[in-house]
Amino acid sequence: MGADTDRADEWHERVPAIDDGSLIVVSNRQPYTHTYEDAEAAENGETEGNDRTIGINRPAGGLTAGLDPVLQRTDGTWIAWGDGDADEVVTDPDGTIRMPPEDPSYTLKRVWLTDQEVEEYYYGYSNRVLWPLCHGGVWQTDFADEHWQQYRAVNRKFAEATVEQAEAESLVWFQDYHFALAPRMVRAEVPEAFCMHFWHITWPGWDTFRACPQYRELLDGLLGNDLLGFHTERYCENFIDCVEETFEEAFVDREGNRIHYGDHATAIRAFPMGVDAASVRRASKSVGTDFWAEFKGKYGISGDTVALGVDRLDYTKGITERLAALEEFWESRPEWRGELTYIQKANESRSLIPEYQDLQSDVTEAVSRINDRFATAEWQPVVYLTDFLPQEELCGLYRFSDVMLVSAVRDGMNLVAKEYVAAQVDSDGVLVLSDQTGAYEELGEHALTINPYDTEGFVSTIDTALAMDEGERAERMNALREQVESHDLVAWMNEVFDTANELEEARNDPGDGDDASAI
Ligand code: F6P
Repeated sequence: MGADTDRADEWHERVPAIDDGSLIVVSNRQPYTHTYEDAEAAENGETEGNDRTIGINRPAGGLTAGLDPVLQRTDGTWIAWGDGDADEVVTDPDGTIRMPPEDPSYTLKRVWLTDQEVEEYYYGYSNRVLWPLCHGGVWQTDFADEHWQQYRAVNRKFAEATVEQAEAESLVWFQDYHFALAPRMVRAEVPEAFCMHFWHITWPGWDTFRACPQYRELLDGLLGNDLLGFHTERYCENFIDCVEETFEEAFVDREGNRIHYGDHATAIRAFPMGVDAASVRRASKSVGTDFWAEFKGKYGISGDTVALGVDRLDYTKGITERLAALEEFWESRPEWRGELTYIQKANESRSLIPEYQDLQSDVTEAVSRINDRFATAEWQPVVYLTDFLPQEELCGLYRFSDVMLVSAVRDGMNLVAKEYVAAQVDSDGVLVLSDQTGAYEELGEHALTINPYDTEGFVSTIDTALAMDEGERAERMNALREQVESHDLVAWMNEVFDTANELEEARNDPGDGDDASAI
């Protein structure tokens, strides 16, 4: 509780000024979910009537946890899919509920989706079209027309919910690839509102993007924003290339990073997202060596050296490539058998999609194969963890692991790499980072970097990481920590909101002699 209060105070001090009531956040995932805690008892007929126990899942980290205090401070509105099984019973008939429960200070507007909408909009178009397409996996896409129709319909639904809440002074902030069409729809109804969007994943090159049958509509939807943000300059350039190739009538001002299309301009900017470094640091400091001894005992970790991977089970994360490199490592360097343990913390994700099911079985198979090949009576090479870990334990794991392996084959940013760095309060760990991540742009100089497809190179980089002396570890990690701490989540939000404020001021008051369209 104490730590939470510190965090809220710190955020209140650093978060930029936004007019009360003006902020509307639109995201697929919601900050608070109401769920029945007695689902099993209810299934067995052991609960009576309406007498059910309802629990609340709170934002555990990342953007959701970061935006929550901003919404609280400004009494804004958060619009999101109400996916909790008990959401509907606690929500007002108009779909709103005041949050957080202990101090209601902003409105959460829940949008209800049918099973078919979830199937086709979320699993279908969002995660079987846009997700693989944006990560360069054209072969993994499923461009079924019903997915597209539903994506459009659900974007319309969210746009309508937004329009209901929006006014001329509103600052509407769309999150991610689930809502490429909604900005244009909102602009049509509330043209004075300032619309901005952050695209949390990679934006691919034109040659990849043009494979999508709906590329025009997607670009047109996103150009309904006043400001469109990506993690890196490269994604901004890719997006601008796509617009230039698609709309002859668009005027692209590359120097000013603006696109003039129709009767309005969209600023395209890179905002590399950060993590809540202070909270990770605090959680990491709160655990000591006793935690580590206990953790190692609980999971039977006997080697003195630990390498770590923490991932959502997604085919973009390069988990099988990493396991292949580790297998080769133990094969070619037998002296590390019994000494190096690799912990794979994995979070199940999007399991209704066949590619994700395939990945899950590929990973479990690779783990068992490696363990069958190299395990001894006292030592298991790979410890595979799917248990939920509270933040302190995850940060403890980051803190005490000697090497962190981030080997995504394509990743918009990779915040896990930044969390590892933020948790390195002893500055004695080594980050091995894929050059295919957005994080590479910021951390590549001081991390050890790999191409995840180059197994030999990966193996020798693991070697280099393990052999690195204390001085070099500290030097590299201190430089990484400096970068991650100074470019944290609040700094990121400040940059986004400051840019939005500047653009909005320029739009409302273009100044003498300025070209009003050139904001
Ligand atoms: O990386 C993109 C992203 O949408 C994240 O913002 C989110 O944490 C992650 O994917 C999880 O995805 P989902 O909401 O599909 O579980």
